[in-house]
Amino acid sequence: MRTVSTIQELRTALKNIRPQKIGFVPTMGYLHEGHISLVKKARETADFVVMSIFVNPLQFGPNEDLDSYPRDLERDSQLAVEAGVDLLFFPSVEEMYPTGSRTIVSVHEITDALCGASRPGHFDGVATVVLKLFNIVSPDYAFFGMKDAQQVAVIMQMVRDLNMQVEVIPCPIVREADGLALSSRNVYLSEEARTQALVLSRALAEAQQLLGKGERNVAALRQAMETVIGTSPLAEIDYIELRSYPDLQLTDELAGTCLIALAVRFGTTRLIDNILIEVA
Ligand code: PAJ
Repeated sequence: MRTVSTIQELRTALKNIRPQKIGFVPTMGYLHEGHISLVKKARETADFVVMSIFVNPLQFGPNEDLDSYPRDLERDSQLAVEAGVDLLFFPSVEEMYPTGSRTIVSVHEITDALCGASRPGHFDGVATVVLKLFNIVSPDYAFFGMKDAQQVAVIMQMVRDLNMQVEVIPCPIVREADGLALSSRNVYLSEEARTQALVLSRALAEAQQLLGKGERNVAALRQAMETVIGTSPLAEIDYIELRSYPDLQLTDELAGTCLIALAVRFGTTRLIDNILIEVA
């Protein structure tokens, strides 16, 4: 695996790869099995795999964890090699934003709810950096985890709206054995919070079970999920949302492809999780 940190080096390295197919896995690093699953899918789909590690300042709010976001390039490089990444792109903030960020990509409507509502400007930052990375790498395929289901919807909408020549491939959520969705932010959790964080996946399982019994009413499903989260004294609900997917429209009764998503705070650590379900 080669590691490059400038756009020029990356473009030169990729020149000789085409016409082979390039698969791209954008990340902010501190890699875990969730990220690695994207690399595995990329290996199956493409001939050459590029991963980026860039903690993108543009997608963090003023009071968020940009400075404390976990970083460990040495460990990440080792994991990337083992997973089969061919080229690692590790740019500096100056390389990505030499004149700040005067051009911003904004995907409207589907960014008004869920994480877009709790984190104003977050998806502008995501869409802008992902567009830049797509322009830099020119991948044939790009791999994103459904852990961030709204992010997938936003990127797919941007790709369609701007006629970008990349196929976005959503990949399933990877979880710990006990159900907690893997996240770089899990390292912030105290032992007590880590145990209580299981209420996220339990609340989703509860909703799924009720759906299995025929419940379709959004208010009733949300109430049942709140009750599960309420069993954790440390948990503070940011949102519980049940919406159509990928349009993220509100509805009183679930039908068709639906996203059940939640964000819960444990102290300063905010965790998200979701399930996508086909409601008959
Ligand atoms: P990051 O949080 O590092 O995640 C990189 C990719 O890994 C995303 O597509 C995310 O959905 C996926 N991922 C994270 N946890 C996962 C899990 N448990 N199972 C499956 N996939 C998982 O998402 C970002 O970075 C940034 O917003 C980025 C797209 C890189 C733009 O800066």
